[in-house]
Amino acid sequence: EKGGYDHFMMKEIYEQPNVIKDTYRGRLNANKGIVQMAGIEDNIEKFLNAERILIVACGTSWHAGLVAEYVIEEFARIPVEVEYASEFRYRNPIINKKDVVIAISQSGETADTMAAIKLAKENGAFVFGVCNVVGSSISRESHAGAYTHAGPEIGVASTKAFTTQITVLTMLALRLAKAKGTLSNSDYHRYLMELEIIPEKVKEVLSTNDITKEIALKFKDSTNCLYLGRGYNFPVALEGALKLKEISYIHAEGYPAAEMKHGPIALIDEQMPVIVIAPKQGHYDKIVSNIQEIKSRSGKIIAVVTKGDTQVRELSDYVIEIPETSDALSPLITTIPLQLLSYHIAVLRGCNVDQPRNLAKSVTVE
Ligand code: M6R
Repeated sequence: EKGGYDHFMMKEIYEQPNVIKDTYRGRLNANKGIVQMAGIEDNIEKFLNAERILIVACGTSWHAGLVAEYVIEEFARIPVEVEYASEFRYRNPIINKKDVVIAISQSGETADTMAAIKLAKENGAFVFGVCNVVGSSISRESHAGAYTHAGPEIGVASTKAFTTQITVLTMLALRLAKAKGTLSNSDYHRYLMELEIIPEKVKEVLSTNDITKEIALKFKDSTNCLYLGRGYNFPVALEGALKLKEISYIHAEGYPAAEMKHGPIALIDEQMPVIVIAPKQGHYDKIVSNIQEIKSRSGKIIAVVTKGDTQVRELSDYVIEIPETSDALSPLITTIPLQLLSYHIAVLRGCNVDQPRNLAKSVTVE
């Protein structure tokens, strides 16, 4: 049942090229310039009239929401706010009839996310669910939605659910951009093409498995770890840190790289592994200077870089090379080596990867 892998988590990591394809199958056709999902087509006016989009979720799904904030705002120019469902439900938030609330949940059973939806509905908002489990409570409670087609995710640490959530939300952003004319024709088509070939790139980046294993051997006894990224890769840094914490029990923090100098830089010494997501796109020069700041304080640098990069390589102790992708789609690629790294560290530490202590696959109590 683990398909020849030692753990479900590894199986699910390796399923990502296929399940991303399953998620966009029948919805995305780059040649024809089409991106459509029934739940959106049927409610397109709600999205186009929305004064803002509110995203509610927990854990990894909340990280997917953060990626979506960047993508939707950039592509479709609709203001987006992302909230932890547990905070949203108890803070008497302002919810308007013209708000579209997107609830993201792999299981579709998370109690706080469910409560956030109910509150949004009571206040007249339109609720759109992005769930993996078909027929789950959240998918039933939402007015409309789009399923991720990741298949059953057994490992408690979410992997393929995250990348398929990002796939759905990127398609949503592209669909709205098309309707609103907020992306140029050429950009729109370029993103469609790129999204269609993302599974190939994910396949390619899975070949970093060996190098991540080597890196894991070096850092398996660390007690702390920092993950840094900027822009689209800031949420990926948060997700990388969460993955390490939950399965290896190593304390890890994710930060937007530029926030380092507002505090966390004090933690850096020669014992501190710092994982920096530094692809060639986006804020490359800025992240290079952040890496220099870490280097001058003797931190150990593990960098995720675009293939062929030399500048970051020179500054780093270890590099993990990934294929080139545009900035907005890069989380689908950059997140993969971080999943692998956590996996190998957890295995080397003898942890129960699929069933980490104190955690449940779906959190049905608040
Ligand atoms: O089923 P959900 O997506 O609503 O679950 C939300 C979180 O409980 C979940 O993502 C959790 O953070 C994972 N264990 C992370 O790997």
